Amino acid sequence: MDLTKAIESRFSSRSYSSKSFPVSVISQILELAIKCPNAGNLHSYRFVVIDEEDLKIKVAKASMNQLWMAEAPYLIVVCYDDTSLKRYYEDQGHHYGEQDAVVVSSYITLVAKEFDLDTCFVSAFEPEEISRLTRLPGNVHPEVIIPIGYTREKKKFQYRPSIDLLGFYNEYGNKSFRKTLEEKAKELPKSAKSDLKSKVQKINLDKVKGFFKKKKP
Ligand SMILES: Cc1cc2nc3c(=O)[nH]c(=O)nc-3n(C[C@H](O)[C@H](O)[C@H](O)COP(=O)(O)O)c2cc1C
Repeated sequence: MDLTKAIESRFSSRSYSSKSFPVSVISQILELAIKCPNAGNLHSYRFVVIDEEDLKIKVAKASMNQLWMAEAPYLIVVCYDDTSLKRYYEDQGHHYGEQDAVVVSSYITLVAKEFDLDTCFVSAFEPEEISRLTRLPGNVHPEVIIPIGYTREKKKFQYRPSIDLLGFYNEYGNKSFRKTLEEKAKELPKSAKSDLKSKVQKINLDKVKGFFKKKKP
């Protein structure tokens, strides 16, 4: 599956079929996901993969009673170990650890699509209770819980605003973002230096043109 397809097909699944799959698939997903950017390449992310039914239910209850989580064959508790981060970055260590865990979690949700698996990014939980249930040492902190499995839902298309409402060029609040992109898109073919580059740029140009044709919701 290419990246665009993975991004377009991912959604937050909150219902899973009972069909399971080998835990080795989770290993493969994590092996790929940990290639994500991470602070200082200190690999602070840690993963507790849960498949015990009782434990899944306890974790779901500690996640604001989101009991649907326990339907998934596995829950991945994504944590960070702050030991090295604190040594290198002192007070910033905690902040970078949170970011490491969030970045790797995003990768997991996309890599999972490669295996036709669906996920949800869950942050609403009681950290102390999750730490207790999964026996985390004091230097390891839970950040995200990812239920993973075969969804029983159809992909839901969640509204996203047009990027020209969210992106600014050079200065926050500068409304010329959309116009500037259009102008830059027009310039692309002139600067093409080889067939390959020109092809890539043509694709990009078409994408940008198509994007701007979309009507505002
Ligand atoms: C930081 C963060 C926390 C989230 N926590 C939860 C959660 O506790 N429960 C849940 O069902 N979804 C949670 N989500 C998923 C969002 O609700 C979901 O990504 C958003 O509604 C967009 O829908 P989509 O993922 O299907 O595109 C969380 C997402 C993020 C990024």
